[in-house]
Amino acid sequence: MGSTFLATTSDWISKLLTWVTWKTFLTLLSAFCFVRVVYDEINKRTQRLPMIGERVLILGASSGVGRAMAKQYAARGARVCVVGRREALLAEVREECLQARRDVPGTADHDIAALPGDFTSVADMINIRTFLEEAWGGLDTLVVAAGVSALKPLLAVTGVQGNEDSTKEGIQRTVDIAAAATRGNYVGPLIAAVTLIPTLSRTSKAPAILLLNSVAAIIPAPTRTLYASTKAASLLLYQALSIEHPNIAFTHFLPATIEGDFRASAVDSGPVRELDPNKHGLKREKVAKRAIEAVDMGEKNVIMPFIPYHFAHFLYWMMGPSGSVVESMARKKYNYNV
Ligand SMILES: NC(=O)c1ccc[n+]([C@@H]2O[C@H](COP(=O)([O-])OP(=O)(O)OC[C@H]3O[C@@H](n4cnc5c(N)ncnc54)[C@H](OP(=O)(O)O)[C@@H]3O)[C@@H](O)[C@H]2O)c1
Repeated sequence: MGSTFLATTSDWISKLLTWVTWKTFLTLLSAFCFVRVVYDEINKRTQRLPMIGERVLILGASSGVGRAMAKQYAARGARVCVVGRREALLAEVREECLQARRDVPGTADHDIAALPGDFTSVADMINIRTFLEEAWGGLDTLVVAAGVSALKPLLAVTGVQGNEDSTKEGIQRTVDIAAAATRGNYVGPLIAAVTLIPTLSRTSKAPAILLLNSVAAIIPAPTRTLYASTKAASLLLYQALSIEHPNIAFTHFLPATIEGDFRASAVDSGPVRELDPNKHGLKREKVAKRAIEAVDMGEKNVIMPFIPYHFAHFLYWMMGPSGSVVESMARKKYNYNV
């Protein structure tokens, strides 16, 4: 009788303790979430820098995500300068931005600028900086969206079949193609950073930089050797720069496959091996919206979509066989069998 009573009491006590622990945990979690939401709201960049009049430069805005971001920034009243090499497309983007901004009171023609230029050219980037300083007195937000793709397995670039030796010409071709990928994905972002970081720091109350990078930079995939490695180089460049320049809010944005013509820019003229990006890729407007939100909230590293790519990144680095699971999924995605 006595032992039954003791057992029941200890059972109740342990249930109570479990309930109290859960209650404490849930209370602390809710308090943390509440403080976090209030903190984020207070520190939101748009509290310090009004959306209307924000000076935004988008490198790589004649198409794709850069173009979608230009329209979305214009619609909320930003002054937007779009850059790309295809002049006719830039003129179209400028018109779209003016249309999107037409309801913002006091909108003038010079609030939207289209500057044809190559972001891998030092002279072009200096011209852009001179324009920004003369027309707008500086810059608040730099978006580096430009980039180039590369789609072939590396040895296919050299032209080898099976295990035969690569030729001198094949190796040289690979070096030239790697240089083109490096130029578009690393040298361009590098020139943009060294040209514009002082302008941002000197002229903005809340300077920000968004690097549109790729999830390929952190999760290896076959056929993406040159693309991923050159994207990874600019990712690390900007992540390290963000420590050197803590006054600037850096956002490193890493999306998965997006709809559009990006693969047409392939420096190796490789074929598209994955499922049709225009059917299965992320919508560029959605990517643009999330990227702008990340800049507003000062988010440092964003992977899109969160699931499954956050887990894939984590699994790849874990001990044991989880890395090979990620590798086999990457093989499947790019239809690569050896
Ligand atoms: N599409 C995807 O599946 C995907 C996935 C993850 C990450 N990303 C990244 O997202 C970014 C944008 O891709 P997207 O899909 O929007 O591709 P996109 O439609 O091809 O846009 C690329 C933009 O960059 C510009 N550009 C390229 N080289 C340039 C240069 N040297 N100087 C100036 N502008 C240059 C292009 O304009 P001009 O040709 O007129 O110069 C174009 O406006 C890229 O950095 C890419 O790596 C793309």
